Amino acid sequence: MELPAIVVNVKTYRQATGEAAVSLAHIMEEVRRETGASLVIAVQAADIYRVAQAVDIPVWAQHLDPVTYGSHTGWTLPESLVEAGACGVLLNHSEHQLRIADIAAALGRARKAGLETIVCADNIAVTRAVAALEPDLVAVEPPGLIGGEVSVTSAEPEIVVGAVSAVESISPRTAVLCGAGVKTGEDIRTALELGAAGVLLASGVVKAAHPKKVLLEMAEALIPQ
Ligand code: G3P
Repeated sequence: MELPAIVVNVKTYRQATGEAAVSLAHIMEEVRRETGASLVIAVQAADIYRVAQAVDIPVWAQHLDPVTYGSHTGWTLPESLVEAGACGVLLNHSEHQLRIADIAAALGRARKAGLETIVCADNIAVTRAVAALEPDLVAVEPPGLIGGEVSVTSAEPEIVVGAVSAVESISPRTAVLCGAGVKTGEDIRTALELGAAGVLLASGVVKAAHPKKVLLEMAEALIPQ
């Protein structure tokens, strides 16, 4: 992933399911074209193929299972995500938490399939534990702020600074994103000032009345003119 970046995780929001995911991805692609900002969309597994066919921005999966080809009914095979057009995968989101052994197994399978990885962490202790697994990125997100009105960058800047320094000392190759409540260009600027390499966000864009307006403001903050 080109850094700094804004990763939009559309979760299972109606506003970004099916064709609506394609529409949002088109808007993100326009903003990428107009500003040069690095924008990534993480969609539901069922939408990866249609979104990846429609746009040039990176499309990520929201989860995978550490299974291999064979008898694993109902699980998500990493290679199937790659074939659908995914470039990377989120793991251990606070809405889809995994045990550390399962994160390690999922990371191993993601790497083998050629997917980039973001592992989410809800506090500094978990950040430390997952950094030891050396993912490409760690995203620190205090669960209490997710979906809320107040950004982690103003409510808990110390968790961003703490995550950045913990990851730097444990896995210097891993970049840090922050997320939860991120909604404005100012939030993005602060995230970068705190040492993050970008943000992971959802509702601020997906539920916005005018997603393009919000994304433009954020993208301009990511790449100061
Ligand atoms: O994955 C992003 C996320 O959990 C933050 O959600 O709605 O607070 O931007 P939101």
